[in-house]
Amino acid sequence: MNGLLLEDLPVQVTGESCSLDHYLVQPDETMDGSIRAAREKLGTQAVVLGHHYQRDEVIRFADFTGDSYKLAKAAAQTDAKYLIFCGVHFMAETADILGRPWQQVILPDLNAGCSMADMAEIGQVEDCWESLERLRVTAGDGILPLTYMNSAADIKAFCGERGGLVCTSSSAREAFEWAFQRAGKILFLPDQHLGRNTAFALGIALNEMVVWDPYQLNGGVEPERLRAARVILWKGHCSVHQRFLPEHVDRVRREEPGMQVLVHPECRWEVCQKADALGSTERIIELIEKAPEGSSFAVGTEIHLVNRLARQFAPRGKRVITLDESGCLCTTMYRISPQHLAWTLENLVDGRVVNRIQVDSERKRWARVALNRMLEIKH
Ligand code: 13P
Ligand code: SF4
Repeated sequence: MNGLLLEDLPVQVTGESCSLDHYLVQPDETMDGSIRAAREKLGTQAVVLGHHYQRDEVIRFADFTGDSYKLAKAAAQTDAKYLIFCGVHFMAETADILGRPWQQVILPDLNAGCSMADMAEIGQVEDCWESLERLRVTAGDGILPLTYMNSAADIKAFCGERGGLVCTSSSAREAFEWAFQRAGKILFLPDQHLGRNTAFALGIALNEMVVWDPYQLNGGVEPERLRAARVILWKGHCSVHQRFLPEHVDRVRREEPGMQVLVHPECRWEVCQKADALGSTERIIELIEKAPEGSSFAVGTEIHLVNRLARQFAPRGKRVITLDESGCLCTTMYRISPQHLAWTLENLVDGRVVNRIQVDSERKRWARVALNRMLEIKH
């Protein structure tokens, strides 16, 4: 596809953009033509990255789809000047951190955040670390901070600067192993469930883990217990995945014999223990893809992905249903609409960069260290 040469256009970070309101009153399906035409004009200068939780009306325009690990790798490897990230804020920040200086990352709706990422603020994490030092929890074999990708850039930088790293749900096991080769303890931010599920799978007993509540003195944990723990889990969670309960697995076992239960490791430990397999969004898709015809699955993850898998695999004789009958929606992922995508693309065609995500150089430096450690340990 031959694109317009945007180098020749007066691109600016802010400026008079076409009104978003004008787009928001148009029906979804009327956006397809505008998106296609803008993509055609932009050619190879712009790539669209789409997380699996995006709605169909958006993800069908993505050049790259994937879980957060795969998208971070794609962002680090593309040569496009503009990266339009159809996902949430921390994913766009990651693309900016891993991208090259001349690349620009755009998040079509700046309100597309992640409630879990918001559960760990840098001031709270610094206070926690100070308390761990004061209580001599960091003494002995030492402690490394490890953060889930679902965190702000300053948390990633905090980990990088202290010898730690970032992981996604598809690299958490390798990240824990890497950290335990270098220290006796891990502070895991911000998802207690992914941390607990990963540590447990590595043979760490539940009583060797404690939960740090940032709203309580010393995290609400006795100093003795903090010193004895091998994993300190930040008290954060995903409100979408925490809705799946062990009862949902029990119901599937009762009503759908033979059905396999696949869940995302952001689900509670009790749910993960009852499931047949855990995996990132990409891994869940892969498991269904590789299963023989006639297989059936109850999937515990975001509803847009589950519904898409149900439609995609039905013609291939595989049945996919949601684990929780009502289905769980990630409202922030849903904020990226075809209208927002058309608006960002048409502005780009006109030489305007709207909704750019930029991480400042100091945070970028250490966050990149933490992200590169992640990319190095998983191939
Ligand atoms: P994945 O990395 O599995 O896509 O998960 C990202 C996420 O936010 C899940 O809630
Ligand atoms: Fe964040 Fe949960 Fe949405 Fe994933 S599903 S982006 S963890 S709120």
